[in-house]
Amino acid sequence: MIDIHSHIMSGIDDGARSLEESLLLLKKMSAIGISHIVATPHYIVGSHYILNNQQKLEKLEKMRNLVKQENIPLYLYLGNEIFMDPSILALIKKNEIAPINGSRYILIELPVSRPMNEMMEFLFYFRSKDFVPIIAHPERYVYLQENHELIEKFLKMGCLFQGNFSNILEKYGAHAKKLFLYMLKNNQYHFLATDIHHEDDILFKKMKKVKKEIIKLTSKEKFQELTYDNPLKVLKNENIEIKYGEN
Ligand SMILES: [Fe+2]
Repeated sequence: MIDIHSHIMSGIDDGARSLEESLLLLKKMSAIGISHIVATPHYIVGSHYILNNQQKLEKLEKMRNLVKQENIPLYLYLGNEIFMDPSILALIKKNEIAPINGSRYILIELPVSRPMNEMMEFLFYFRSKDFVPIIAHPERYVYLQENHELIEKFLKMGCLFQGNFSNILEKYGAHAKKLFLYMLKNNQYHFLATDIHHEDDILFKKMKKVKKEIIKLTSKEKFQELTYDNPLKVLKNENIEIKYGEN
């Protein structure tokens, strides 16, 4: 699997707390079948969790060296989970914010309970600049749980959706799980990812069950598309055709 959403980089957000925890996370991720990981530390404009791309790449290089030393079969890449803000595009140009592996794909986090008035406008603007927003864990947003038509609007605009595996385990509550199942059934996801923060995450013990259940709800081919084929296209900056409404 290729994981496009993770908090494996230490000392930058609420993810891994030390390089030791990063290493443990990487070992455990490799053990559950992940071969490529994009480190996507939170980028929230105005917060103290901020490093520029050069600083993040230096941290990534340290992790790559560790992986090599420890013989863990993993490839590591850089990205950010970017909280929606009008200044994102300028910050990408200034090398403060990292699109996934330098591609046109950007992982976007939206406010959980209230859509911003300007949200659609921003997303539309990104699309006009040829960036492709990947909306992280849409199942957690209350306004999408309550209004499925809004999901279609995002798709028609050219946004892609990334779901979190752990919804199967109801990690984010019953409403999030319900929307996760709805979006899976309606073929509205393009990626599934771990959004892993810590080495004691329940996903490490339950990944087999999670995979089995998702395949039961969709198909082996769909699982492969969501966890490998589409993520690989992102890493290679290739086009992803948006299909939805059929399974
Ligand atoms: Fe995240």
